[in-house]
Amino acid sequence: MSTDKVSVHGSWASRWVFIFAATGSAVGLGSIWKFPYMVGVYGGGAFVLVFLACIALIGVPVMLAETLIGRRARLSPANALKVLAVEAGHSGRWSWGAFAGMITALLILSFYSVVGGWSLDYIINMGKGDFQGATADQVGDYFGGVISNPWRLTFWHTAFMLLSAFVIARGVVAGLERSLRIMMPILFVLLLVLLGYSMTTGHFMEGVHFMFDFNPDRVLDGLLAAMGHAFFSLSVGVGSIMIYGAYMPKNASISGTVVGVALIDTFVSLLAGLALFPIVFASGLNPSEGPGLMFVTLPFAFGNVAFGQLMGVVFFVLVAVAAWSSAISLLEPMVAYLVERTRVRRLWVTFWLAFTCWFVGLGTVFSFNIWKQAKFFVSEESGFHLYQWGAASGLDFFGVVDFFTSRIMLPLGGLCFVVFAGWIMGRGAVRDELSMRSPVMFTLTLFLMRYVAPLGILIVFAAQLWK
Ligand code: PFF
Repeated sequence: MSTDKVSVHGSWASRWVFIFAATGSAVGLGSIWKFPYMVGVYGGGAFVLVFLACIALIGVPVMLAETLIGRRARLSPANALKVLAVEAGHSGRWSWGAFAGMITALLILSFYSVVGGWSLDYIINMGKGDFQGATADQVGDYFGGVISNPWRLTFWHTAFMLLSAFVIARGVVAGLERSLRIMMPILFVLLLVLLGYSMTTGHFMEGVHFMFDFNPDRVLDGLLAAMGHAFFSLSVGVGSIMIYGAYMPKNASISGTVVGVALIDTFVSLLAGLALFPIVFASGLNPSEGPGLMFVTLPFAFGNVAFGQLMGVVFFVLVAVAAWSSAISLLEPMVAYLVERTRVRRLWVTFWLAFTCWFVGLGTVFSFNIWKQAKFFVSEESGFHLYQWGAASGLDFFGVVDFFTSRIMLPLGGLCFVVFAGWIMGRGAVRDELSMRSPVMFTLTLFLMRYVAPLGILIVFAAQLWK
């Protein structure tokens, strides 16, 4: 079996570059924007605990599986599964699972770019001093004004998509490292500064209790949401980490690297939550505010501290960079696949894929304004309706795409990858890629990939269905 394959898309110069790229993919809007608002919506501690358990028992094994599959095959996800399955004497149809994952990544990118666009918009708003001295209500109204304007959202969504496509078109390996090496540590420091501020609000312990007090009654409410978010946050289940694994040098240790990336990502999420919630409570905002939580809470905080205007600009620049490095990893798997399969140039493949995602993303833009009343999967007293205009319940377009991708497709994709690594690739190939010194650690890792992670995913799905 060959282990000396080379990627046609290039390779990271060292293990460190993989760490930066994978951390860049994992740390993004999921940690800073989505995690806090989901904690708010699903009532705090119960969600956080399930999320942490899912990261450790399911997310990390899936991440290991993706990385080792990618590095073994050195191909885009669909081709990687096909080649490795055939090499191990199984059906090449395993590639369909990876193909579904790559489509899921594009669907995620469609709304990710819209929210990435909000952070670009907020760089300008912060810089103009729009939030200086503003009350929480004023900041809330401001956000309402931003999202109710479809032209404004479309403009920033377009800008964000162009920025991401630009790097992809040039080739990921060339562009990412330099920017991330500087930006990520600064983002981290600024989150610590925000944490420092939230400690002065007098409501810090309220935030801590909200995030960590375990309320067993709410576990089932947020179970699937928490598992789905663990996948989203680690960027696993769609092939993003797999394609980055494909560019990883042969001599780098996979397990240590993957655990390191997962720890950093989780730490940033917890930090963002701990920085945000005390400010939420201090300013009388509603923790279950939803997707606007970060865009209301932080401008309010920056508007009311010394040097807040400057810090606010820097913060939103860094959020945009974190989002941008994640967006790149969403587009790369399908771009790599089409470059491998067709003779079309990377530039054109990128252009058409980015355009398609942009177009689908308009649905998310409109769900905050002109399509706000368009509701899907409505269940009312009169019965269940697939679609109804103006219904009180149900999901808007953004809600449907988010639900379908995060709660269904990411866990299913993860299941496919971890079962593939655990059962299909063959023990020898897995051992060779992981090259762990301790046989006990190897057995434990294989156990996690073979049993714990797949069963965990199935149990969460089952618990949700029978709830
Ligand atoms: N992990 C990214 C975040 O937390 O913002 C989002 C993401 C990137 C999800 C890549 C999935 C993915 F494949």
